[in-house]
Order: sequence, then structure tokens, then C-alpha cells
Amino acid sequence: MSTTAKTDWIAELQGLVTNQLEPDRLRGRRVAAILGDVPSTYAKSPTLWNAAFTALEVNAIFVPLDVPAERLPAVVKILRGTEGFLGGSVTVPYKARIIPLLDAVDPMAERIGAVNAIARTADGRLIGYNTDGLGGVRALTETVVPGQTPPLRTLADLRVLLMGCGGAAQALAVYLQESLGSGELVVANRTAEPIHQLFSRLRGTHGARLMVLSEADILTQAPTMDVIINATVKGQAGIRRLPDGQRTCLEPYSAVASAQPARLPAGQDEAAFRQAWLEASAADIASNQTASIALCTRLPRRTVCYDIIYAPLESVFLQHARWSGHRTLNGKGMNVAQAVAAFTEYVCRDWLIAEGWNETDMIQRVRQAMLGEWAK
Ligand SMILES: NC(=O)c1ccc[n+]([C@@H]2O[C@H](COP(=O)([O-])OP(=O)(O)OC[C@H]3O[C@@H](n4cnc5c(N)ncnc54)[C@H](OP(=O)(O)O)[C@@H]3O)[C@@H](O)[C@H]2O)c1
Repeated sequence: MSTTAKTDWIAELQGLVTNQLEPDRLRGRRVAAILGDVPSTYAKSPTLWNAAFTALEVNAIFVPLDVPAERLPAVVKILRGTEGFLGGSVTVPYKARIIPLLDAVDPMAERIGAVNAIARTADGRLIGYNTDGLGGVRALTETVVPGQTPPLRTLADLRVLLMGCGGAAQALAVYLQESLGSGELVVANRTAEPIHQLFSRLRGTHGARLMVLSEADILTQAPTMDVIINATVKGQAGIRRLPDGQRTCLEPYSAVASAQPARLPAGQDEAAFRQAWLEASAADIASNQTASIALCTRLPRRTVCYDIIYAPLESVFLQHARWSGHRTLNGKGMNVAQAVAAFTEYVCRDWLIAEGWNETDMIQRVRQAMLGEWAK
């Protein structure tokens, strides 16, 4: 790609995305990106991927692209036509919405109904993949973080409770259903509709039995499970902006019990919001945590408690599970495993092999570099 073409590409892209690009850092390099609504404010992948590029000593950069929804097709068109674009990742709220804009989608991603990684082929086609489910299951059974023994050797024939049915949960469900063999996958969500949609996609595929559970029944049914996985946002750090413009927070909540936090209008500064929100939500937080502690103390010792949230590293659910003597796993391993898989298996694989990298060495370096970023 000539410098002029790249400058034009960057200028065109800058006209569509709302975060500031740095043309001097992009020019003359291979470029990978994360597409989302505001990934520049929170995404972990730019630091992970850039650490991997540095460790491999290749001339490439990973940038966040904050894309307003109506401009997504135009952004995808530019990326498809840009020779130096490698691909990258996709985050909320575009994991499903990007599918019709791609040239092809891997069969697992199609079954999941969402894409979190895209690769640009040498002939300029954009292919979608999903590594969330793969990463989430690998973290349970394989050593992703050196020195940390995975909580399980196999998922075969186990009963697993999956809480949540958003994008990440649906990706996990597809991989879990395959891995559980003659076990059982029980999915519980606040609302029933996403589970019906998921099950209609999964029915007829080979794998574990599927069961639906209401959110209220988690407290009675969880003690019959071998593994409990939180894939909801209950316990996630940060102030959440709701579609109606109000704000709320879910960090002080455990995923195993109901959460009905106060929703307050925007407008106050952050400290005033936090104080008013905590006061208004105190009774609900207390009831959620009391129920969670009561449940964790009733869980059999064998139950593994897994929360895919990684901010905070120990959610309230995991705190309670650790205090009650259970094996716990947070979302760090999943985050690293999904990023390593996207980088080494799909987005950068062909280019790096053409650059002379041996596949095993490449995977090891990328994993070490990404884990190193996590350790900072
Ligand atoms: N470790 C990793 O690599 C990794 C990867 C992906 C995601 N994650 C984490 O996983 C979590 C879910 O992400 P996502 O992309 O799947 O989000 P999402 O698509 O927005 O789904 C959100 C889920 O949370 C539920 N939920 C929201 N508010 C709730 C409340 N007050 N009470 C009960 N349930 C509630 C939703 O239920 P309804 O359907 O009823 O609204 C839905 O099941 C996030 O914390 C994210 O950071 C981690």
C-alpha cells in the first residue's frame, strides 16, 4: 500500500469514527482494530495486541475504533478495501450486527449468532469468527495462566449452570453444549426470550441436554450443579449508562441472586451519583448479598464457581464462593485465551507464518506478551 493510499484511508476513517486516530502511528504499518461503540474508553485488547506485536518484533499496530451505529457499514467497507488491514476484534454492540456486512462467517460463529474476531484475507474478504466461547471453555480446563492449575480436567458429563444469555453467554453455551457430552447445560437469565432464541439454534445439534431455569430458581437449583458460570453483567465494575439515559451500577451485586439497583438520572457529578445511588440501593444490595452467602454456604464442595467478569478480578459472587471454600475462576484466563486464539489462529496467522514465524513459537510469545500486559 502506498503512503498516499494509506493517508487517504486514515483520513476517510477519521471522518467516520469519533475517537482521534494518530495518522503518524498508523502510516506504513499493518493495522488491526477493535470495532465497537466506544472501545477507546474501556477495551483491553489494544494493550494486549500491541504487546504481542512488540514481542514478535513486527511492524503492526492495533487501534480502537469508536463507531456510531449508522456508520458501521461505511467503516467495514473502508477496512475491506485497505490492503494493510489485518482484521481485529468486534465488541458491543456490534457482535451480531456486523455479520451481514462480512463476506463469510465461520460455522461456530454462525451457530453462536455473533462474531468477536474478523480476519481480512489476502484477496480482501472479511471473515468473522467467535473465540469467546472457545476462550471461556479453555480457561476452565487448560492452563492459560502459567502456574494456575485449571479447575477442571474435563467438562464431560457434568451439570453446568450458565447464568446470563447475552453475547458472551451464547458463545459459551455453544462450546459448553459440545464439551459436556452426556451432561446437562442449564441456562438461567433475567428474561426468557434470549434463551428460547438460543435453544432454537442449538436444538438438533449433537451435545448435552439443554434446560431453562428462571433467575429466581438459581438459589434452589445451584446446589445440584458441578459448575456455576456467571456470564451476566451482575458484579461488573463501573457506572452503567442505560438506554433511557439514566445511570446505575451492578458492581456490589452477586450474580446468583436478583439485582434491582436504583436507576438515577444523569446530571450529577460522579461522587454525588455514587452516594445517592448507594443510599437508594442499600437494602437491595443487602438482600442480594445475604441470599448469595446463604447459597454459597450450601453448595457442595465439588462445585466450581466461574465468573467471566474480569473487572473487578474478584466479583462479589467469587468472593462469597472463595469464602465458602470453593474453587473459583475469574475472567482473566478467558480474556487472554480468546485474544490469543483470535490473534494466532485467525487474524495474524497467515501473515506471521509468511513473515517466517514458527506457529508454536508465535503462540507462546503472544500468550506471554498478553499475560505480561495483564500483570501490569
Ligand atoms: N472474560 C472475557 O473474556 C469476557 C468476554 C466477554 C464478556 N465478558 C463479560 O461478560 C459480561 C457479559 O457480557 P455480554 O457481552 O454478554 O453482555 P450482554 O450481551 O449485554 O448481556 C448482558 C447479560 O446480563 C444480564 N443482565 C443485565 N442486567 C441485569 C440485572 N440487573 N439482573 C440480571 N441480569 C442482568 C442480561 O439479561 P437480559 O437478557 O435479561 O437483559 C444478559 O444476560 C460482561 O461483564 C463482560 O465484561 C468477559
